[in-house]
Amino acid sequence: MSKVVNFSIDGKDCMAERGQYILEAAKANSIYIPTLCNLPGVKPRGSCRICNVKVNGKLMTACTTPVAEGMKVENDTDELTDLRKAIIELLFVEGNHYCPFCEKSGNCELQALGYRFKMMVPRYPYQFPDRNIESSSSNLIKDHNRCILCKRCIRAIKNEDGQSIFAFKRRGHKVVINVDTKLSGNMNDELAQKAMDICPVGALLRKEQGFTIPIGKRTYDQKPIGYEFDASKSATF
Ligand code: SF4
Ligand code: FES
Repeated sequence: MSKVVNFSIDGKDCMAERGQYILEAAKANSIYIPTLCNLPGVKPRGSCRICNVKVNGKLMTACTTPVAEGMKVENDTDELTDLRKAIIELLFVEGNHYCPFCEKSGNCELQALGYRFKMMVPRYPYQFPDRNIESSSSNLIKDHNRCILCKRCIRAIKNEDGQSIFAFKRRGHKVVINVDTKLSGNMNDELAQKAMDICPVGALLRKEQGFTIPIGKRTYDQKPIGYEFDASKSATF
């Protein structure tokens, strides 16, 4: 069986390696699909749905759906743009995202997507939930106001014994990310920094660290999210 799969995105002929997810294959063909919960190198979970595309007319998450021969993927359409924008708006109203005083401002993927999708006033009412900020761990602050439950921290942050430092607590709409205070107590600065870096928003912050990179000089202050895909490039096969 051929290792290469031929498929299309928005009518553009694309090639992918067999077994690649649509998201990876789109990237290899220089096509941008927005993501929030996906983390390259970590098994995708399809939590946020921002990467929704239409595959043969049906909504699918691009990060968890493998490409198949002859597949027709819709990505850059008005309908999908509005759906993705609606998800971004929902995330903003569901939590308390106060960008002007967030240490992650300019490095926050949700904020950057808000700009990319030209979010102004959300179509949904703000919930202003009553959530706390946890600082029991020695080198991390967990701000539940900003957590979007993407599970990146659960999947990617493990101690030397392979134990997850983060886990879900409670169920349904009350679910929160729990930090194991015992395990996080042994977290070195490098792992704490990794946790802060992989969190797409400002829900995990290093303690006693801030503004080492000034506002205005951060990742998305310099270039909008996905800018590298905006200029067309050829596939790398
Ligand atoms: S703390 Fe950050 S990485 Fe973990 S689930 Fe919440 S938003 Fe995602
Ligand atoms: S990036 Fe695919 S569902 Fe979140």
